[in-house]
Amino acid sequence: MTNNPQNSPQAKDPDPRELFARLGEESFWRIARAFYARIDRDQFLRPMFPVDLEEPIRNQAEFLIQYFGGPETYSIRKGHPRLRMRHHPFSIGVAERNAWVEAMNNALEDAQIPEPDRSVMTRYFANTATFLMNRDE
Ligand code: HEM
Repeated sequence: MTNNPQNSPQAKDPDPRELFARLGEESFWRIARAFYARIDRDQFLRPMFPVDLEEPIRNQAEFLIQYFGGPETYSIRKGHPRLRMRHHPFSIGVAERNAWVEAMNNALEDAQIPEPDRSVMTRYFANTATFLMNRDE
């Protein structure tokens, strides 16, 4: 997967897997709750998500905990993340990608994630959201 942007950290970035030990589990739940609170108020993205957001909150929190170096609860429960496959049912063009990234960047602010970890996350989300686009405009 040499083209996978998730495998292209910037030279001076800390290893993403260090973030869990520094930030602690609760930070990732704060991010997921803040993100979905914003999705819930987002007229453009809201219809894409299920009525009940509890399961998406759990999916997102457990995924981020695992990606950033914490316990692999997500994969034990759901298997390999396979993000592109799991996003296949949703039509993601540049407008959806940008709205998602904006909601997540605001959620990092809401959850008061400190630097330098916030920038590591911001770059990861920007790259991964681009990688998940699956619709030609
Ligand atoms: C950095 C980018 C992204 C990451 C890391 C990410 C991560 C995830 C994860 C882990 C899930 C749960 C999948 C599952 O376990 O079934 C999920 C679901 C979902 N994602 Fe994303 N996603 C990203 C970008 C996007 C974008 C750009 C959109 C479209 C605007 C989107 C829309 C959705 C929807 C509608 C779901 C279903 C909710 C659920 O069942 O949890 N995602 N995403």
